[in-house]
Amino acid sequence: MTFDPQSIRAEFAILSRRIGDRPLVYLDSAASAQKPEIVIQAMTDLMRHSYANVHRGLHTLANETTELYENARESIARFIGAASAEVVFTRGATEALNLVAAGLGAGMSEGDEILLTEMEHHANIVPWHFLRERKGVVLRFAPIHEDGALDLEALERMISPRTRVVSLVHMSNVLGTVNPVAKVAALARAAGAVTVVDACQSVVHAPLDVAALGADFVAFSGHKLYGPTGIGVLWGRSERLSALPPWQGGGEMIDRVDFDHITYADPPLRFEAGTPAIIEAIGLGAAVKWLEGLDRPAIAAHEHALYEAAAAGLSGINGARILGTTRDKGAILSFTLEGAHAHDVAQLLDRYGVAVRAGAHCAEPLMRRLGVSSSLRASFALYNTRQEVDAFLDALDRTRTFFT
Ligand code: ALA
Repeated sequence: MTFDPQSIRAEFAILSRRIGDRPLVYLDSAASAQKPEIVIQAMTDLMRHSYANVHRGLHTLANETTELYENARESIARFIGAASAEVVFTRGATEALNLVAAGLGAGMSEGDEILLTEMEHHANIVPWHFLRERKGVVLRFAPIHEDGALDLEALERMISPRTRVVSLVHMSNVLGTVNPVAKVAALARAAGAVTVVDACQSVVHAPLDVAALGADFVAFSGHKLYGPTGIGVLWGRSERLSALPPWQGGGEMIDRVDFDHITYADPPLRFEAGTPAIIEAIGLGAAVKWLEGLDRPAIAAHEHALYEAAAAGLSGINGARILGTTRDKGAILSFTLEGAHAHDVAQLLDRYGVAVRAGAHCAEPLMRRLGVSSSLRASFALYNTRQEVDAFLDALDRTRTFFT
């Protein structure tokens, strides 16, 4: 298999847009990726030709849609090396992490410890804060090194007999750091703790094999994975998922409901109360099938080369500081420019057609740890090109003149 970014661009109509009189240079895929035609088509075809509710109807359209919905679950299971029954559809990674935290938290008591890292996204901090407020659990944060790598020795020392959960990001949305999740999961398991992984960024850039990862729960969203918004995945090891209490109550998550008694459905339906995001799940199924047909190692190499070129160019710009320089990192380039606020720079870049993210990236504790209030972030996807990196660096150079 080979990979040609130019021909893949033809599958994304939006990439030929212009911003004012400039071609769009979309470097914000870590926030949300653009969608290939095949995903858009799968969703519109469904609505045009075969749409009904799932798991409820007995008519032809209901049966067809249920089959497509469950096929999407199977595609996603195959994509991450899991069994279909271990794949729960959620509204997004945030809901998946809230579901796990609430479920695991139900069995926790005051003084139990949750071990996180300093580089977590709010989605992997706030649900655990809820348990701190409501149950009196203690949150601990494993530190990072100056280059943005996780301090694994410190993390190991922080695992105690009270540690119930170790929850960490696989690839940081700010630093790009790829964490040694399998090692962390082995340490957690040895201590009798559950490992939860936020794989939102990592699942996009490299094949994710949940068995090799060794974690108990893995969450990711659909919209960064070239799929639609409103859909995410919680993978749970079968026995862990079965032990988890329900999250939301409603239709289709039950076994039997009576006036004075209730029993619940087995996973995954136990965690899919109400009408699910049918169209979006089928769109995500189409996205992962599309990705499976591409040369993913070649894509990862391409994205990394773009990162390297952008980082090298940035180091020639006066006052630029890259956040996250460890070797084990993905195609995310966060940086600050001395004397310039990230929001101002992002708005100026937009005038040149360049879309980047600016702010705290939903990782305020990490930003404080790094001693900055905000940063710019350019993130690279399979459809980005070397010419776009040059356009970004050129635009950055021009904006720089406003601040010197
Ligand atoms: N979590 C997304 C980001 O990093 C929104 O931009």
